[in-house]
Amino acid sequence: MKALVVANWKMNPISWKEAKKLFEETKRMSGLLKVSVIVAAPPIFLRDIGGLRRGKIGLAAQNVHFEQSGSFTGEVSALQAKDAKANYALVGHAERRAMGETDDDVRKKVAALLALEMTPIICIGEHVRDDEGSHFTFVREQLLTALRDVPQQKIAKVIIAYEPVWAIGAAEPMRPHDMHEMSIYIRKALVEKYGEVGHKLMILYGGAVDGTNVGTMLEHGGVKGFLVGRASVDAKRLAELLRVMKDA
Ligand code: 13P
Repeated sequence: MKALVVANWKMNPISWKEAKKLFEETKRMSGLLKVSVIVAAPPIFLRDIGGLRRGKIGLAAQNVHFEQSGSFTGEVSALQAKDAKANYALVGHAERRAMGETDDDVRKKVAALLALEMTPIICIGEHVRDDEGSHFTFVREQLLTALRDVPQQKIAKVIIAYEPVWAIGAAEPMRPHDMHEMSIYIRKALVEKYGEVGHKLMILYGGAVDGTNVGTMLEHGGVKGFLVGRASVDAKRLAELLRVMKDA
């Protein structure tokens, strides 16, 4: 499995001019350093970035609606995102869940994306941790609800992104040892449900990842891919991150 960075730009940058520059630099660096990159861009930039995309770099919507069209003011459907050349979409990001997205919405979005041959990047993660380990059951519930309608023959298409909510936007990522433990737990749930193919799914970690901490996470965290916010919208920080990943 090749190392992967999903660059979640969130509501950045502030203009098309800057978005184009950032995308061109991201594309150049990913080609040079041979790290797979998927850019999750705001919907207003999707189609133009789709036009610039060549080669291997992937393009993701940050959210989609599960209906193909209709009276849903402000929403973008998976079908529209695909038409703009997105081949991936984030679903259930913590910042969307904070605005009301439910596990059941996530389930419907995953099914809609797979029906269009797009890859859902399913974001899961607990808000808090306690000594009883309730975070494990919380994450398992999010995961299994999201996958409820995903049949055996489609599961290989799915990417799982584990982002503990408390590490998003934080100063430090979670401890690599704890990520390793969670990656084993998620993997076990996938294998229990889908058998051997569960071993093949990419599991990403997200939350305060940058070039200063990605090396130890790669070494001890049990993951080979990352969902990156802040460090992905700053070309210098992204370059540093990709450089470490290439050498790992
Ligand atoms: P940061 O990398 O800025 O902590 O954001 C993580 C995230 O939410 C990526 O989806």
